[in-house]
Amino acid sequence: MTDRQLAELALDARKNAYTPYSNFNVGAALLCADGTVFTGCNVENAAYGSTICAERTALVKAISEGQRSFTAIAIAGSGDDFCWPCGSCRQMLCEFAPTLRVLAVWQDGQFEISTLDTLLPHAFGPAALE
Ligand code: THU
Repeated sequence: MTDRQLAELALDARKNAYTPYSNFNVGAALLCADGTVFTGCNVENAAYGSTICAERTALVKAISEGQRSFTAIAIAGSGDDFCWPCGSCRQMLCEFAPTLRVLAVWQDGQFEISTLDTLLPHAFGPAALE
């Protein structure tokens, strides 16, 4: 799975987004260490706070299927700028992959790359509770 392929999967995952309130569609594609990819989209709710982001949709799909190790996530938004993961998604991803590669995908498939430890420095993680 190349970065470009992962980016394309994130773009494709946007099509299932349920966004009647924001109309801001997001797709994510999470690459597991074993090569499996889980995709996700944002799913909004009339009780706005119950909305789940695309990244967390992909993550909980993967975790619930027994995956625990991840190497990269691609995220495609629909605005006029790159869609980097929100704070809640950074925290959730950090639990399992604190140095995860993060690809922010533009509409044309081009992407910028960062890492989760750059996006969430001094993170609170499982080690704090040992
Ligand atoms: N959203 C995501 O899916 N991922 C992010 O990283 C940022 C925000 C969604 C949540 C909501 O459905 C919409 O974008 C507007 O906030």
